[in-house]
Formats: sequence, structure tokens, C-alpha cells
Amino acid sequence: FYRAHLSNLLSDITGVDTKIIYPALSWTQSLDKGDLILPAPALRVKGQKPDDLAKQWAEKFPENDLLFEKPTVVNYFMAFYVKGAPVVETVIPLIQKHGKDFGSNKLNGLRDPTDPSKGRKRIIVEFSSPNIAKPFHAGHLRSTIIGGFIANLHEFAGWDVIRINYLGDWGKQYGLLALAFEKYGDEEALNKDPINHLFQLYVRINAEMTAEKEQIEKRKQDGEDVTELEADSLDEQARRYFKKMTDRDPEALAQWKRFRDLSIKRYQATYARLNIRFDEYSGESQVSEEAMEKVGREMLEKGISKEDKGALIVDFQELVPGKEGKRLEKPIVRKRDGTALYLTRDISELLARHEKYQFDQMIYVVASAQDLHLRQLFKIIELLGHKDIAVKCQHINFGLVLGMSTRKGTVKFLDDILRDVADKMHETMKKNEDKYNQVENPEATADTLGISSVMVQDMTGKRINNYTFNMDAMTSFEGDTGPYLQYAHARVSSIRRRANLSDEDLASADLSLLTEAHAVNIVRLLAQWPDTVQTTLRTLEPTTVLTYLFKMTHALSSSYDHLQVVGSERELMKARMALYDAAHTVLGTGMRLLGLSPVER
Ligand code: ARG
Repeated sequence: FYRAHLSNLLSDITGVDTKIIYPALSWTQSLDKGDLILPAPALRVKGQKPDDLAKQWAEKFPENDLLFEKPTVVNYFMAFYVKGAPVVETVIPLIQKHGKDFGSNKLNGLRDPTDPSKGRKRIIVEFSSPNIAKPFHAGHLRSTIIGGFIANLHEFAGWDVIRINYLGDWGKQYGLLALAFEKYGDEEALNKDPINHLFQLYVRINAEMTAEKEQIEKRKQDGEDVTELEADSLDEQARRYFKKMTDRDPEALAQWKRFRDLSIKRYQATYARLNIRFDEYSGESQVSEEAMEKVGREMLEKGISKEDKGALIVDFQELVPGKEGKRLEKPIVRKRDGTALYLTRDISELLARHEKYQFDQMIYVVASAQDLHLRQLFKIIELLGHKDIAVKCQHINFGLVLGMSTRKGTVKFLDDILRDVADKMHETMKKNEDKYNQVENPEATADTLGISSVMVQDMTGKRINNYTFNMDAMTSFEGDTGPYLQYAHARVSSIRRRANLSDEDLASADLSLLTEAHAVNIVRLLAQWPDTVQTTLRTLEPTTVLTYLFKMTHALSSSYDHLQVVGSERELMKARMALYDAAHTVLGTGMRLLGLSPVER
């Protein structure tokens, strides 16, 4: 609202369209530099020096605007400051009225805001996507955190969101896994902890297979006839088992499905701790063979793929001119033995999803290690004649997590990480015995704080940056960490408990009493929240929200000495509590958007 008001005002002054002004206005990094800032060159007015333009426009700015002071000018930057009283008296009641929907702008996602019957825009967010029987590694963790956030964000903005988990659950390695289970499987262990048990089997059988391969190779070199050995090798057995699966052998399929179902059940428990649920567990196994064959034929007919030593490849250099064609390389889409590949499955799956969901947008949250894969995927969809679909797809990538280790050594299961961090938080909590005894369920709180530590650390930088997993830093209560954010939230909750005021008390508070700079500054930040959400819909960076939330916690913590609630005279107490309560609402909303569970104590 503030930005819109200012755009209109500036449009009157400059004669420039609001469509140009609105996006050129941005919120400042810190309040002492104003609230909104405008670089004069962004309005693209020719013929005069930007510095002069800024000065002229500032002079023309009305003395008595309802919301803004006359701007200040530094070089060609115009800085606008909101007026304290109006911002306080509009923003706090708005937050009281809309609660956690403040800033959600639910109309934003509608196809036609004036006609809700046309339905909301639909977005698919594909994220997490681990490979069953293999470790849920840092890449999957990041995809889970970032994807969960992107899904929440769109829901908040009014989109119809479909969350899809595309499991790695098909291929020869699952034949090998079934063999391992026949040999060493343990029903009890499988039911108790399928992810771990399957992984142990996977490691064991792979080690065995490697040793066997070396053996065969050695004998071969010694001149022995190894035909029989090879025909009976684990590799060959796995291939045969997987062949049974693709031929839809009921027994083989049933076994594989059991592994898959148990793994999903286990994943779901972990996702629940992260406040995540999926609408669909898709996966490589779910792609229809017929559909793949069909699109395979189509690619061949349209000259997108061609034969190369018995396999089918896409030679992008022949299809896409210039550098781009070279960059896209030469992926295989069908192996010599006829099996489809990761890329082939993705092509079919994408088209099937469009058919099924008619999405307006689809986001793949996958590590940047797969940048090329997704570029190839989108390009092939375009070459197949579906440019309209390709433009709706977006790859949201992210960097690596370095230096992650758990007490188990090299394998990094998500559950282990979360347990380690929760233990650490629990130890910290115990150090303050007095407070510790006030927490109702310390284990659960430690768990929540642990999860917050991991998530906040992950979301602190830009997605694309690598970061180093640092247990000590992320569990600290000092600095911009998850525990600090939770502390800030709980502290406001505790003021409210001690003030012992009702919602009616707060609604009837005399907000004109909030004149101190500290109070006004908190409200100035609250006024930025709706725009922060809109900006984040463009950046799709969790850090955009996180940075905002930390600004808020800093403003709050520096205000407590100046804005005492308990102990102040009753009217003042009501007004200040109304202020803190509004901050509490926005802080909680932001945290939940990030996927965190705000704690009250
Ligand atoms: N399962 C894959 C992996 O762990 C990620 C899947 C990404 N999504 C996709 N549609 N290819 O690397």
C-alpha cells in the first residue's frame, strides 16, 4: 500500500507511468536511510542529469502528504520516510484484523481476481526426491527445506499448490537390493527401520559385487574361461531380477513395492517433523513404459534423437544453434539394450504431469549438480513442440553442504542429523535449570530448536552458495541463528503472558501513545512485510524472508528497555502490548512460511 501510494504520487510529479515507478522503489536495508528509496535514473527520463531530476522532484513533493515526509536527496537517490503516527495507526489494526493472513495477498494467485470461479493458478513444486535404499544426503535435505518453503510461499500468496516427491525407486540397483534381502534380509529390522536396514543391505551387497567383479577380472586375465562365472554373477542376477520387475512379475513387484512403501512411511515421519507433507509420491518407477515408448518414437520421427552405436542420443549441437547447443551436450535417451534413462523418464513424467494437473507453473527443486540435466529436459520438451509447457517450468537450484558428519561417520541420514542437533540443544537447555523446568515438554522443544538450527543455517545465504555444516555455530543463541529466532519469538510470547491482557484490550488500545522512535521503527518494519512476501515470490530465496525476520528481531530486542509493558501505566501497557502482539503475529507467520514451528516458551 505504501509503495502504491508513493508510486501514484511520484507519477503525478514526474509524468512517468506508475508501472515503471512501482518496481523501481525498494525498501531500504536500514531504517535510518529512510523507508523507500528511488534511484532517479530508474525512471528513464532523458535530457537532464539524474541528480538534478531527483532534486526537482523532491522540491515538487507535497508538504502535507498523509503518509510520507518530504524526501531527502543524496546524489540521484531519493529517500522517503513514512510519517510515524499514520503508519502506526493503520498497520497495527490491519494486522489485528487479518492476523496470520496479513501480507498473504490471497488474490494474487487468481487467474482473474474479479472472477474467483475461474479458479486459482496452480503450481507444482517437486522437491526432496530421495532415492530409496540410498542415503538421504545433504542435497535432499536442502531440496526438502527450500522446496517446502517455496510451496508454503505460493500457498500463502493464494496459489493452488501440488507438492510432488519424485523418488528414485527404479532400476537395476533395486533388483540387486531384492537379492540382498533374499540373502541377508531381516524382517524385524526391515519393519523397524526400513531406511537403515535397506541401506545396510545395499552397502553389503555392493561391496560383495565389487569384490566379485575384481575376482572375475583377475581370473580372466589369468586366462581362465569366466563365461559361467559371469552368467551367475551378482550383477547378472540383479539384471535378471530387475527384468522380472519390468516384466511385471507379481512376486518381484510385490517385494519391491514393500520396500518402497516402508521407505515412504519412514520418510513421512521425518517430513512431519519438518511440517511437510506431499500430495503425491511419484517416482521413476511410476513413469509409464508405453508413454516413454511413444515419446521415444516421436523424438525419432521429429529428428530430435538419432541412432548412435545402437543407442539413441540427442545431439543438441545439430538442433540448437550456437553456444547453447554446445552447452547442452549430447545426452543418451535410450541405451543399446533398450532401457530408458533418467532423462527419458523425466520427459515422460513432465508431459504426464501437465496432462494430469494442467499446471500454470512447475518448479523443480534440485541441486545445481543437475543444472545440465534440467536444461536438457526443458529444451527437449520445447523441441517436441511444447514450448508453452516448457516456459512454465523452472529449475530452482542450490549449492552444496560441506563438512557434514555425524557420529556414525560418513553416512548422513537426515534422522541422525536431526537427533544430534536436538541432543545438543537439550544439553544447552539443561544448563539453565530454572527455565528448563518451566518448559512443558523439553524433549519436544529441543527437537524443534534443533530442526530450526539446521533449517535456518540452510536458509541463511543465497540458495546457490555452498555452506559449511557447522553444528556449534548453528545451535548458538547468539547471532542470526535458528535458536535466536525462536528465542525472540518466545520472548514476545512471554511478555503477553505476563501482561495478561485480552484481545479486546489490545483492539481498544490507544495507538497514538506509540510515539517513541523504537515503537515507530517496529511498525515501519511491519509495514514492509506484505512487500517482502511479493519480493520473495520473485527471488524464491528463503533468505529474503529470513533477513526480514532477523531485522524484526533486532528491532524488537533493542526496544525492550525503552518500551516497558509490564509495570507501565495501563493505557500505555495496552498500546505497547498491541505493538508487540502485531510483531509476534508477523514473526510467527514468517517462521511458519519458512517451515519452522514457532515456540511459545
Ligand atoms: N532422485 C534424484 C537424485 O537424488 C533427484 C530427482 C530430481 N527430480 C527430477 N525430476 N529429476 O539425484
